[in-house]
Amino acid sequence: MINKEINRSQIYVDVAKLHIDCIKKGFLPSLGVKFLALLYRCIDESNFSTLIVKYKDCQLIGFVIGTLDHSKLYKKMFFYPLDLFIALIPIVFNLKKIIKIIEIRKHMSGSKRSKYSKAELLTICVHPDYRQQGIAVDLYEKLSNYFRSVFVYEFVIIVGQSLKANLFYKKRGVELVDEIQVHPNINSNLYIQKL
Ligand SMILES: CC(C)(COP(=O)(O)OP(=O)(O)OC[C@H]1O[C@@H](n2cnc3c(N)ncnc32)[C@H](O)[C@@H]1OP(=O)(O)O)[C@@H](O)C(=O)NCCC(=O)NCCS
Repeated sequence: MINKEINRSQIYVDVAKLHIDCIKKGFLPSLGVKFLALLYRCIDESNFSTLIVKYKDCQLIGFVIGTLDHSKLYKKMFFYPLDLFIALIPIVFNLKKIIKIIEIRKHMSGSKRSKYSKAELLTICVHPDYRQQGIAVDLYEKLSNYFRSVFVYEFVIIVGQSLKANLFYKKRGVELVDEIQVHPNINSNLYIQKL
């Protein structure tokens, strides 16, 4: 769901930058703007995921990303080998980051994650200047409508236990069903939102 007046490539860069600004300690943001912008392009172009953005006066103020199948997410990036190669240059020499990528892959195909719906809210972010104004609720509702439109009536949310966003999700009526470790020593809550 994209604002047609803004160039698509610019939207992917804007989303990558807002993600990095909003979740500074997250692993995905540490992969850099180029990697994230390519990932969001793939998400937007695929028929199993969605990128919903909200702009005000040409400034990105919030976005949400959801997928119908979390396990297919990164495969689509191989359709753009040159862009992927360029995005990976700063990462390939960083062993810690490579290990974390492998951990994410293992988590995605792991038996614990496989017990639950493949549909997932991957990230929601609102620009700090626009918080507490109901923007995230609006994005969340739009994502829920996307899932309903493809007859998906529950989705997973995995969020680090230390993040304040847990309170946001609890207010939306999610059910805490599990605790999961995508990376060692970092506990995340696994919620299910029923629609
Ligand atoms: C979580 C986040 C998306 C909420 O955005 P927002 O636009 O401020 O949320 P809303 O204004 O729509 O708030 C909806 C409700 O959640 C509550 N809420 C929102 N952020 C909250 C927070 N940090 N702590 C406690 N409650 C919060 C609001 O009080 C509001 O409650 P109400 O409906 O009773 O009034 C935003 O704080 C953010 O971008 N955080 C950083 C990124 C992040 O951690 N994302 C989640 C991980 S994927």
